[in-house]
Amino acid sequence: MSSFPQLVFSGVQPTGNFHLGNYLGALVKFVEMQDRFDCIYCVVDLHAITVAQSPIELRKHIREVTAAFIASGIDAEKHIVFNQSQVSEHAELAWVFNCIARLGWLNRMTQFKEKAGKDRENASVGLYAYPTLMAADILIYRATHVPVGEDQKQHLELTRDVAQKFNNDYSQSIAHCGFGDAFFPLPEPVIQGPATRVMSLRDGAKKMSKSDPSDYSRINLTDDADQIAQKVRKAKTDPDALPSEIAGLAGRPEADNLVGIFAALQGTSREDVLREFGGKNFSGFKSALVEVAVTKLAPVGAEMKRLQSDHAYIDGILRRGAERASRLAAKNMAAVKDILGFVR
Ligand code: TRP
Repeated sequence: MSSFPQLVFSGVQPTGNFHLGNYLGALVKFVEMQDRFDCIYCVVDLHAITVAQSPIELRKHIREVTAAFIASGIDAEKHIVFNQSQVSEHAELAWVFNCIARLGWLNRMTQFKEKAGKDRENASVGLYAYPTLMAADILIYRATHVPVGEDQKQHLELTRDVAQKFNNDYSQSIAHCGFGDAFFPLPEPVIQGPATRVMSLRDGAKKMSKSDPSDYSRINLTDDADQIAQKVRKAKTDPDALPSEIAGLAGRPEADNLVGIFAALQGTSREDVLREFGGKNFSGFKSALVEVAVTKLAPVGAEMKRLQSDHAYIDGILRRGAERASRLAAKNMAAVKDILGFVR
């Protein structure tokens, strides 16, 4: 199979309450990858409207996520940062992919089943077709690496299936148009990262979530030092001391979560954290965790708040990013049209 230049693409939904889970699960990895790859990071506003959105909130959340990208250290000059709706080729290629993907493939998507819930008849067609738009996001740039959370693995598999089927169905035309034996790469998920799964501070069995009614369940990126400290101190624990070995975290989801957060924030491993705190009780550990959390997060949150209210600056980043992304996308979309047999 043809080889493709390495390129990273990932997307984040503009849904508000950007929290520690989003930060450690996505942004830290995005920042880390930008030293080794060319990267395209996208605020996926077209995906956001698969469920009802208030326009005022949506606009605010697009700027909020963009500010979080920049405040975390993503370099929007070296790499590309933009919002999806400004590059119309995403939607255009998604239509083509709606004609490539099979109903049976989409029927298997567990995220649709979860999000649609019981009232499936009333879910939007867009929510159902969400994965083909995600495939288009990635493949319009012919990206090869996609940093995502565990929960997006199935969508990445579908992306590979779409790419593979397109390459097969149009193999003759692809060769004829001068693209060799494959037009699209089969992109790889990049799952491993510092802390891919950050759990609720109130219940170690639940993922940290923007929609949890208790604000104490999560650390928002915009929380100030006092709020961070309060939330860590109130975080649920168990009565035992911390173990010295990883095995001792089994069956102790809250302890495991806090140790994982500590390690991720400090850029070390759980083993390192336990070597330091094994045998100690939670109160000392929590004081240390407050210190790392405040040191690492408070400046990012403060910068994010400052940036997100500077609309001219944020909107300028998105516009320039969209111009650069559009040039790449237009070229690939034109090739897809030729491959399909459209006249242009
Ligand atoms: N579905 C992803 C999520 O909810 C967001 C997303 C949209 C994405 N398009 C993408 C992630 C393309 C990676 C690549 O997290």
